[in-house]
Formats: sequence, structure tokens, C-alpha cells
Amino acid sequence: MTAPGGERRDDLPGTMLNSVVRPYLCAHLAGDYALDEEGRRRVLDANRAIDEVYAGGHDHRPDPWWTRMVEARLRLLPPARRDTLVDLGCGTGLLTIALMSAGGFRQCLSVDLSAAMLRALRAVLAREGVSGVRTARADVTRLPLADGSVDCVAGNSMLHHLPDVPAFLREVHRVLRPGGVLLLSHEPTVSAEALEGLFKRPAGRLLRAVRRVAGAGAAPVPAGPPAFTDLWVFDQARVRRVLEDAGFAQSRIAARGFLATPPCSFLDRVSWRLAGRLPPARLYGPLRDALDVLDDAVPRRVLSPDRFSSFAIAARKGDGPDAAPRPVPLESLLRCPRDRRPLRPVAGGLRNPRLRLTYPEDPQVGIDFDAPERD
Ligand SMILES: C[S@@+](CC[C@H](N)C(=O)[O-])C[C@H]1O[C@@H](n2cnc3c(N)ncnc32)[C@H](O)[C@@H]1O
Repeated sequence: MTAPGGERRDDLPGTMLNSVVRPYLCAHLAGDYALDEEGRRRVLDANRAIDEVYAGGHDHRPDPWWTRMVEARLRLLPPARRDTLVDLGCGTGLLTIALMSAGGFRQCLSVDLSAAMLRALRAVLAREGVSGVRTARADVTRLPLADGSVDCVAGNSMLHHLPDVPAFLREVHRVLRPGGVLLLSHEPTVSAEALEGLFKRPAGRLLRAVRRVAGAGAAPVPAGPPAFTDLWVFDQARVRRVLEDAGFAQSRIAARGFLATPPCSFLDRVSWRLAGRLPPARLYGPLRDALDVLDDAVPRRVLSPDRFSSFAIAARKGDGPDAAPRPVPLESLLRCPRDRRPLRPVAGGLRNPRLRLTYPEDPQVGIDFDAPERD
């Protein structure tokens, strides 16, 4: 990942930011989980530049552990209807695939800012034979969707990358139908860094020692500021407040990973360093299952959710009973992200004649709402 330039400041608080980016972004805090314009620009540039190496590093084979996890998330606040799904910050499609199969949704728009991710996702969809999914390159705080058009907005491990969480939540609230549900998972809490570091730091030392013994020398240390992608660490009280401020009527937060986190983070680190990918699901799933059982036995009964390492967050849009309109094709729900007007299909893309903008469609990426062509 590329690292945009930035000055470093050590003298500021900012407990919402993780410790890596805090010295650089603290001066750009504009509110709870929100950066000022300069901070937003830096982070969006970093997220746009996520590269092919990362996009290639996920294991997409549907595995029972992940499917059970997704089903549990859907039970937090079950969507009133399972017609149209949106997977935001979809990456290479872990959640898209699980929700389209285990979740039973009819159609899905999978959105990401990175073309590399979307390219990899489309290859996985073709390989796994998943249908009903369209892909779009867009910033999730400017969604190319009509008001009240979606039954479920989901996102795995993406909220902490966004430079303006309140703006994102308002946008999600806009596109959800009454009774629709937002489901986010795997978001780091204020305790995540401490729990993950417990075994991960020794793992780093061990790997450096192995490199030395093998005569590989020290791994190159990246120069300059960090990639501004992982930003926030969340606490329950603030999350509930931003959800309420965005207009959500009901919310639930489930915490995961206390005893389970240190060994799993250790395995992640070793596997990324040695193989450039996450550990195989068949090894990882049973281990996490066993550790989850341990977490349920004691820590969950005695500790605050903020002491666990990650949150799943569910929130429902209120405003009355969920109507069950006739299912409509996804294309008819797409809108210009700038003025929210309907778009006209033209050769090679979708067009907003009023703004004289065309959003090109790349057969390997999807519709590019992030870089329109102007007449
Ligand atoms: C940690 S990855 C998670 C990917 C996927 N959800 C998964 O669980 O495998 C975060 C994803 O969010 C995307 N992302 C970050 N900021 C974004 C933004 N503003 N709009 C759209 N996607 C964004 C990144 O490109 C990346 O693919």
C-alpha cells in the first residue's frame, strides 16, 4: 500500500484513532470518528491505492466457520426482507458470497474503492458460480443508490477505514428501506491493539530471528508515515451515539475475541509473513470455534464488551413497518452519486445527461462511480 506524506505529532490525545496513525492524524480530528477535509483526502487516497498484493491475499472458499459467523450476525437484528443487499468495502467478496448463499438475498451490489479488489471479487464470483451480484467502484460515503432502496447494508472490516464515519452512517440510513438493517462486523475496539499485540509482537521477533538464522538479513522497514488505512478503534458508548445521531432507531453490538484474539492474531501474522495470505480456513475455523467457546465460558460473563477485540454492529432504520414492494432489478435502483438522479444506460456505461457525466463500465471491475467521464 502506498503511504501519502504527512507530518507527525506526538503531543496530542485522540483515543479514537489507533496508535499507528494517531501521531499523524490527531490534528485532523473534526469530531467523533471524523477527520477534517485534509485528513479525509489523505485517507481516501490511501484507500484508493490498495494494491493487488492485498487483493490476492484472501481465502474465499466458503467455509463452515465463516458461514456460521455470518448467520449469527444476521440474527442480531434480522432484516425484515431479504431482497436487495449491498456489501460495502466488499474487498474480494468474503461477505458477498456468504450472504448471497447462507443469507438468501436475491441480488447484491458489491462496492469498493479499489479496482484491484473488485477485479479479484469478480474472478471469485465466476469461479464459485455466484449469480445476482453487480460490482461498482465508489466511495461508500456517496452511494450510487436511490433513497430507501435496500433491505440490508453489510460490511466486514471496513468501518475503521473510513475518514468520516458519521457521514457514512447518514448515507447508509438514506439508502435503507424502512425496517432495513445495517450489519457491520469485525471492527476493532479500544482493546484490540493490546490483545492483538500480546502474541503478535513476539511473533515478529521470532520471524526476524528466523530470517537472521536463514541468512536472509533484516526485512526492509518501510520509510515514511504509515498507510492511512486502519484508522479507528471503537467503544460501545460512542458507537451507539453516532448510530443514533445518524437516525437509526435500534442498535445492537456484539463483542468477540478476548482469549481468542492473541493466538489468532499470532497465526495471522505468521501466515501473512510466510505465505502472503490468511491461514487456511480448515485449520483456522476449528481453532477459533474452540477459543470462542472459552470466551463464552468466562470473559463474556464478567467483562465489558469494550475489553474484547472486535465488535459486530447491527442497526435498524425505523419509520414504520417494512413494506414488501415488488422485487425490482438492481439497475433501476442505481442513481448518480452526485445529484441522485436516475441514470441512462449508454454504450460502455451509465450516463447522467443533466450533469453530462458518464460512469464507465469495465467488464472486469464493474461500473466506476468514482471516476466519471465528462463531456
Ligand atoms: C479490510 S478490507 C475488507 C474487505 C472485505 N469486506 C473482507 O472482509 O474481506 C477493507 C475494504 O474497504 C475498502 N474501502 C476502504 N475505504 C473505502 C471507501 N471509502 N469506499 C469504498 N471502499 C472502501 C478497501 O478498498 C478494502 O477493500
